[in-house]
Amino acid sequence: MSKRRIFVTTALPYANGSFHIGHIMEYIQADIWVRFQRMQGHEVHFCGADDAHGAPIMIAAEKAGKTPQQFVGEIAAGRKQYLDGFHIQFDNWHSTDSPENTELSQDIYKRLKSAGLVYSKPVEQFYDPVKGMFLADRYTKGECPKCGAKDQYGDACESCSSVYSPTELKNPYSTLSGAKPELRTSDHFFFKLSDPKCVAFLKQWLDTPGRLQPQVANKAREWLDGKGDRELGDWDISRDAPYFGIPIPDAPGKYFYVWLDAPVGYLASFKHYCKRQGIDFEGFLSGPQTEQIHFIGKDIIYFHTLFWPAMLAFAGTPYKVPNHVYVHGFLQLGGDKMSKSRGTGLNPLRYLELGMNPEWLRYYIAAKLNGNVEDIDFNPEDFVARVNSDLIGKYVNIASRCAKFIEDRFESKIADLSKPVPFKTSDGNDAVLDPNSIRPFFVVIAPPASSVEKQIVGFESSRTAVTHYYDTREYSKAIRSVMIMADLANSFIADWKPWELAKNRSNDALLHAVCSSFLEVFRILTIYLKPILPRLSKDVEEFLNLGKPLEWADLDNPLPPHHKIRSYKHLMTRVDEKQVDALFEIPKETKPVTAPAPHPAPPAKAETTTTSAGPAHISIEDFAKVDLRIAKIQNAEHVEGADKLLKLTLDVGSLGTRQVFAGIKSAYDPAALIGKLTVVVANLAPRKMKFGMSEGMVLAASGETPGIFLLSPDSGAQPGMKVK
Ligand code: 2FM
Ligand code: ZN
Repeated sequence: MSKRRIFVTTALPYANGSFHIGHIMEYIQADIWVRFQRMQGHEVHFCGADDAHGAPIMIAAEKAGKTPQQFVGEIAAGRKQYLDGFHIQFDNWHSTDSPENTELSQDIYKRLKSAGLVYSKPVEQFYDPVKGMFLADRYTKGECPKCGAKDQYGDACESCSSVYSPTELKNPYSTLSGAKPELRTSDHFFFKLSDPKCVAFLKQWLDTPGRLQPQVANKAREWLDGKGDRELGDWDISRDAPYFGIPIPDAPGKYFYVWLDAPVGYLASFKHYCKRQGIDFEGFLSGPQTEQIHFIGKDIIYFHTLFWPAMLAFAGTPYKVPNHVYVHGFLQLGGDKMSKSRGTGLNPLRYLELGMNPEWLRYYIAAKLNGNVEDIDFNPEDFVARVNSDLIGKYVNIASRCAKFIEDRFESKIADLSKPVPFKTSDGNDAVLDPNSIRPFFVVIAPPASSVEKQIVGFESSRTAVTHYYDTREYSKAIRSVMIMADLANSFIADWKPWELAKNRSNDALLHAVCSSFLEVFRILTIYLKPILPRLSKDVEEFLNLGKPLEWADLDNPLPPHHKIRSYKHLMTRVDEKQVDALFEIPKETKPVTAPAPHPAPPAKAETTTTSAGPAHISIEDFAKVDLRIAKIQNAEHVEGADKLLKLTLDVGSLGTRQVFAGIKSAYDPAALIGKLTVVVANLAPRKMKFGMSEGMVLAASGETPGIFLLSPDSGAQPGMKVK
């Protein structure tokens, strides 16, 4: 297999708002693909950026009393928490308002001009005399010329659905100042998409087999042939000052329309990254093997399959036309489209704030995604079921069923998987278990998907299928195949009953072989799931003590004989339905008041020290009385007879060890706590409890939504350090 060199991007989000779930879904889709390709050993560069320019951002900044640069800078600063939070690993995040983008956009423009594809002509447009600017259609309102409905936008009537141009509105007004707009004329630059050489190029580009999904290519062909739902003419690529954008060379007061410089932002981000990495940007881009791939949503096919390839084609080397544009549908929640402006149904930041595991969402989204353009559906019940029953109940379960025996009975060492083990069957016959025979029993549902038959196709075929599914973005099929294998593994484990074998030491060799074999199966399934679950896979790599990250080629490298694994710690907690309820609950402050409550609720507590402005103040001296220390959880265990408590043994550095009972049982699996750092109140008077002395208190957050969240310090903190 030859090494691929790939440059991957996702659509650049407008820098006037936070990410919504639609963005996160697209980034997860692309991130999985990138991680998969890297696991194959390919060279992949994955870039994103903010789409900073345009009138809406300029106006929003003005309203906020900021410069556009300040405004987009603040939006950009909020991106990291989402990207890190969902393990989305862009190599670079940049901005279209950057020197690289200015240089590249102007360069491409000049080349298009020399190719005879740019011309100018006068355009008559509404002008706001108070704001001193030309008005885009959406900033003019008035009465519908057809039905007379008031306050209709400049392009279409929401009342009678008729379509018109803003100049046809009756009694028009500017939505920016309220002033009556004037008709004024100004020269605009146009990109000549109608030029025969452009049309010929696009036909050929669209027809290249395998370049686009068939639905996408058809849609673009319809537009090109003038049969689509949009009129295809030459493209107006300039806007007059004042405009937040890139100046057009040799044309004072003229700027590129935001959609011209936005896709160039893909290259700008890559160029910025290349500079840092010492990669030859032009050399890479123009390399004959380089693939340029864009992941986008179905609403922006128009720009990415017509203007963008044409711009690149006629700009010439080092620019290259996209090899693929991979289009996805929208994520729907309960049937409502969570489109760009209305994506409030599943707030990704709230998801993270609720302490929900980002890999649950990555897994669920992957389980729904496929290679076509149809919308996908987020169903909260299905989400809980898939994560709890499939991911944890099937996949994680394999490790948790086998690891303990290896640890407790075989000094954490794997058996020699190449050695068959003789044993007696339940009816007393002699038989042999060949651990190697477990590998071929993987099942996949083989394509075509229309055939419902399960076929036992063997390890090699399942590997070929999963690999193919990832490569073609058929993640739902990849996951289905993996879960069928996990099901099969579980049913084999149920047949072998290691817990029964463990009762009699004479079965040791068999028990060892069975548990080792299924840990090997677990390792294989982890490789298959790693593009989707990078964090969990890292924990598995540690648990299996692999010494290096798993790659696809490791499918051929079984766990070596007598390989020592580490102690098994629970790998993933189950989704708590209460968290999901909290995720979709309308925040209290914005809940519409429909009717007065029949019985007004009494105040929660008589809190004499709080006012509506918050708790009463304390002095710094008061605060200093509390001795807060960093503590390392040495041990955590359930307490017999206590349904809320866990017993923690804390290492508090110079203060020694402390035993603390903490009411966090509902939120934490004790095994998952061991080794973690947290904060303890070290000078709280010891308290005798039914179960023993409690010598301090660990700090945790909780609120009105379910969940308890233990505090943990930033990395670098040491047990015993003071928190002040
Ligand atoms: O539709 C959007 O959100 C645009 N900001 C996408 C731009 S994609 C690329 F061209 F930059
Ligand atoms: Zn109307």
